This record gives sequence, C-alpha cells and structure tokens, in this order.
Amino acid sequence: MAPEERHYTDLDLSPEDFRRLGYRVVDTISNYFATIREVPVFPKRRMAEVAASFDDPLPEKGQDPDHILDAWTEKVLPNVTHLGSPRYFGFVNGSGTMMGVLAEALAASVNMNPGAWKPAPAATEIERRTISWVAEMIGYNPDCGGMFVSGGTMANLTGILTGLRNLAPYDTTQEGLQTAKRGDRFTIYMSDHEGHSSIVRVADLLNLGREAVRRVPSREDFTMDVQALERMVEEDVGKGNTPFCVVAQVGSINVGAVDPMEEIAEVCASKGLWFHADGACGAVGAILPEKKSLFRGLERADSITLDPHKWLYIPYECGCVLVRDAEKMRRAFSMTAPYLRGTLPTEYTGLDYLEYGPQMSRGFRALKVWMSLRHYGVEGYRRLLSQNVQAAAHLDRLVRDSRDFEALHEPVLFIYSFRYHPRDLQTMSVSPQERDQIDRYLDRLNQRIADEIQLTGLAFLMTTSVRGRTVLRMSICSHRTTLEDIEIVFRKLEELGRTLDKEERGQFGSA
Ligand SMILES: Cc1ncc(COP(=O)(O)O)c(C=O)c1O
Repeated sequence: MAPEERHYTDLDLSPEDFRRLGYRVVDTISNYFATIREVPVFPKRRMAEVAASFDDPLPEKGQDPDHILDAWTEKVLPNVTHLGSPRYFGFVNGSGTMMGVLAEALAASVNMNPGAWKPAPAATEIERRTISWVAEMIGYNPDCGGMFVSGGTMANLTGILTGLRNLAPYDTTQEGLQTAKRGDRFTIYMSDHEGHSSIVRVADLLNLGREAVRRVPSREDFTMDVQALERMVEEDVGKGNTPFCVVAQVGSINVGAVDPMEEIAEVCASKGLWFHADGACGAVGAILPEKKSLFRGLERADSITLDPHKWLYIPYECGCVLVRDAEKMRRAFSMTAPYLRGTLPTEYTGLDYLEYGPQMSRGFRALKVWMSLRHYGVEGYRRLLSQNVQAAAHLDRLVRDSRDFEALHEPVLFIYSFRYHPRDLQTMSVSPQERDQIDRYLDRLNQRIADEIQLTGLAFLMTTSVRGRTVLRMSICSHRTTLEDIEIVFRKLEELGRTLDKEERGQFGSA
C-alpha cells in the first residue's frame, strides 16, 4: 500500500487542546477544593435520580471534549458524597490529599504497569522505596516485602494467603485445598466483637469456608482475650483441625481497639501460627509518640495490613500489605511463563511485583503515597493523625459532659461510637423487660438521628452495632477536621436527638 493510501489516526488530542482542557480540569479541581469545607456532604438524592443522570446511550460517535468535561460539573458533582469534607465521618474513608490528586494524573500520563520491572522501572523502584518508608515509619522491618494493593481486603488476603502457603503442612500452592491429603480444616482466629468482616471475606475467597474464622471472646475493652485464644487453638488441634493464623485488630472498626500484640505474638511463636495484624485503620498510629505503647508487638507481626486510603488520607484506591520476610511472599505467589519475562535473561531486569502478590497488571499506586509522604513528611503526618486523635478525645468529652448521650468506650485512636440516650431514660428505674424495650426504642432513635443528619448535608455519619445495640459512630479520618467541626456536629446531633425523641416518644409511650 502506498503511504498516501494509509489511513491512520491515534485520536489523541493535539498538544494545544490537551493543554487547554488540562487547565480547565485543574481550574475545576481547584474551585472544588476551595469550597470543600462548605459543600453539603451528602447529595441527598435517591438512587433512581442518580442513575437517571447517567442514563445516556452508548456513544457511537465521538463527542466534543468540552462537552464531556461539562458533564463533570453538570452530572457528576451534584451526585457526589464529599469524602474530602471535614465533616464526613462515614465508614473508614480517608479524605484524599491534594498531592495524591496530582499524582493520579501524572501516573496516568506515563501509564506504567508495575506488575513487572521492565514496563515500569521507576514505578517499581518508587514502590519498593515507599514500602520501605511506610515500614520504617511504623517501626517494622524496612527490608520487609510488601506492595500496594486495592485496599484492606486485598491486603488481608495477600498477608493471610502468604501465611497459609508458608505454614500449611503440605504444598497448598501446587495441590490446592482439594487434595486427598487433607481431612482437616485450616482455621483463623480473630476477636468476636471487633474482628473485621474482611477476614471472613478472605476465608471465603480462599475457599476455607467462612466457618474457618473462629471468634475469640473479647475483654471489657473490646480487645482479644488471649487466654481464650490459646484455649480455642488447643481445642481445634484436639479436633484434628490445623490452626494457622491469628489476626490482631490494630484500630478496630467500631471502637478503634488495638489487640494485645505482644501476647498474640507470643502465642503465635509458641504454636507456630502466622501473626497477621489488620491495621487497615490504625497501624499508622504507630508513628505517634503518645500512642507508642499501644503498638508494642506490631514489629513481630508476620504480615501487616495498613490502608493508605484510610488514615494516610491517600485518594482511592490504595491498600498496603507488608510481610516481614519478602521471600515468603515470593514462595506464596511466584509464577512464571515465557511471555512474562522473555526466555533469555538480559542485564535489564529487576523486581517483578507479579511474583510477589495476587495481581499481574497493576497501577502506579505508589506514586500518590510517595508524593504525599514527601509533601507532609512523617512530621506532618504526625500532626494530622494527632489532630484526629484529639478530635475523637474531644468528642468523648462532649459525650460525657452531656446529659443525653452515653459513652460506650474510651477513645483509642480516631474511631468513636456513642449513643443518644436521654437522661430521664438513663436514670429511670425499670425492670429488665422494660430496659429491653427502652433499648429497642433507642436503637430506632439513634438510627433516625444518623439518617437525619445525613439529610441536612451538614455532616455524614452512620450507625453501627456495639454489644448488640444500634449506636452512632464517627470515623474521624479527615485531615481537614477541626475541633470546631466536631462541636458543630455534636450540637446538631444533640438538637436532632431532642427533636426526634419528642416526636417518637409519644409512639414509644403508647407502644
Ligand atoms: C479493620 C479493617 N480491615 C479491613 C478493611 C477492609 O478495607 P477495604 O475496604 O479497603 O478493603 C477495613 C475497612 O474498613 C477495616 O476497617
């Protein structure tokens, strides 16, 4: 074919158009950040309304880029729940660093794939360095293995699977779990109240069965009773099962509890079990000098989950798993094929992350952590984390000083659960049956308070269950939250509590 007959297009934007559109996007984002403190946190739209905004036909023909960007302002922004708001306290969602936003754009521009070294030399080395920094920050072996993954669930999966592969009494990598050699059940242990559902998901994904997760009784402060753990492990061994992993919570989901890791490490060492620390929420708290003693024993964990998209405020997605001995990750995940490396070695080789974890192609997640860490420094992060801890302590003080709220636990890190409980109902002398009726009333009332505050747009918080009761829960992991935000939200909760209690009390009284 003659060159003039070849029809080729890459459909790329021209440099001028890219620059103009890029500036437009940066202006849009800058304006967004300028108003982040004021925006209604929750869009207050029903699912059908949101879905209708995006009910467009498949675009057969290409569209004008300006028109596409218009949709961001017209369709997307009105339907956003603003996790970056200082008064967003839902799930355990971080707030997103600005440096992380820039990093996402830069990472996409070079489109490196750090599944292997060759398509991503810089990305691989940045990831390796950043993993080492994160480990050093929290007092873990800086020469550990580890990588950034999609989130805490994948980090838990990677850490626990590494444990299973390395500790199982036969080669589960080759033979899987469906081998004739296996008549037992591999079992995992976590605390009953605060153990996280993602561990159950891991047991599920590994086909160990959800029942393989044993719930160890917890103590008054919601941390694991290690003597009970020992008893349960022995019982399982007696039944012919194979205990292989204990999961410690490091900043638990409802109350921020940190399990006694020294004691758990001892049990794991003496019984040959894998010690996994689920620090998705709280492991980075180890950088705080005032909380140091809580984290004793973390350095002995065989693997750690730590979510930068939670308490390091990195934009989604960004989980992280650390494994004390990198070789154990390789042993668990290594797999090769001629097309992954080429068949003949060259001098241009390096760390191939696909050999160390569950993913092959991977995103350049490390860049947003690398850039945010460089921007704030560990010192900056210490200040931000400390602010969140102080905010939770302040909330606890407000709760304890109030007539109509009930404190349920000591504030440990940044997650705090509490309950609206009008004074007269607290002090009323009642039979156990009446107390139960009051508790059920309070369950409903607290749920309504959370639902209503979401609808005001002032703040977003949710309920959870603590010792079987529906309670309010605030996860204060925004780097923008001030003590004033906490006070504003608390006063609103108080006001809603009073109004809704008045509204509901009639019905309750007549129930
Ligand atoms: C203690 C704990 N572990 C694991 C996870 C799962 O993390 P992700 O949602 O990033 O998968 C969470 C999520 O909140 C968590 O709180």
